[in-house]
Amino acid sequence: MPDKEGTQDSHNYYLDVPAVSEPFTLKGSNSLDWGMKNRLSKTFDPDSGRAVMLAFDHGYFMGPTSQLERIDVTILPLIKYADTLMLTRGILRSTIPPTYTRGIVVRASGGPSILKELSNEEIAVDIEDALRLNASAMAVQVFIGGEYETQSVNNLTCLVDVGNRYGMPVLGVTAVGRDMVRDAKYMRLASRICAELGASFVKTYYVPEDFETVTASCPVPIVIAGGKKIPEQDALKMAYNAVQQGAAGVDMGRNIFQSEDPEAMIQAVRAVVHDDMEPEQAYEFYLTLKGGTSE
Ligand code: R5P
Repeated sequence: MPDKEGTQDSHNYYLDVPAVSEPFTLKGSNSLDWGMKNRLSKTFDPDSGRAVMLAFDHGYFMGPTSQLERIDVTILPLIKYADTLMLTRGILRSTIPPTYTRGIVVRASGGPSILKELSNEEIAVDIEDALRLNASAMAVQVFIGGEYETQSVNNLTCLVDVGNRYGMPVLGVTAVGRDMVRDAKYMRLASRICAELGASFVKTYYVPEDFETVTASCPVPIVIAGGKKIPEQDALKMAYNAVQQGAAGVDMGRNIFQSEDPEAMIQAVRAVVHDDMEPEQAYEFYLTLKGGTSE
């Protein structure tokens, strides 16, 4: 017999309440499995759907580049502002405190140094180790138009196969060779190939003309790399334009850690990415945090 609250045996089955069933709103990701979605939610903030990834994996082919000589000194103070870290497993194990609980995108391709042909990469991390490290994604460089194009694309597809088996997203990183034109046509080609071959999200470069066609023609989220250091004002404008034109965030390195004030810069980038703060205001914010004037 139902009791006076309409429940059976003091249980409440909320018979008049429809089951909660919410779509997973990250672009192109609704059909993925739970573990994959959970890992992606460590990179992309579920509220804004966007990500500030702090990239400092450069050492995997560049060695100790400027401001990455001592990651414990220069990068650790920044990690609390990032949604996700993009780094190598060597730096993760040696330098990042295991009490860190947010996203970890592990660099999973490598081989050649800056002294050699960069596109000649191979897979550099086993899925088992990525899982052991509690990674939230594996990143692989893809050199469309490069000398070892097919090999690098094969690295991506192999990681996608094994990633799908274990629920590990793969970030396809579009690498642009020194002699290649960085335009929307190239970025559309490279990003789309990564997505078609199974990358869960794609890193590319921002291009000032027609960038919205790059994001529109890529069925999964795009984050932009920052590229070489440029003035803070310009980097904030680039990040703003990218997200307004459909990017799901940034995977930014040098324009943060080589900034005059990296802590102020990453907070300004966050405001642009997560709060749609306009670049002029974000630069003022940067100056305020830096303790400078806003003249
Ligand atoms: C470099 O090859 C790495 O993939 C970096 O993660 C990437 O280039 C982003 O860093 P940056 O903003 O310095 O270009």
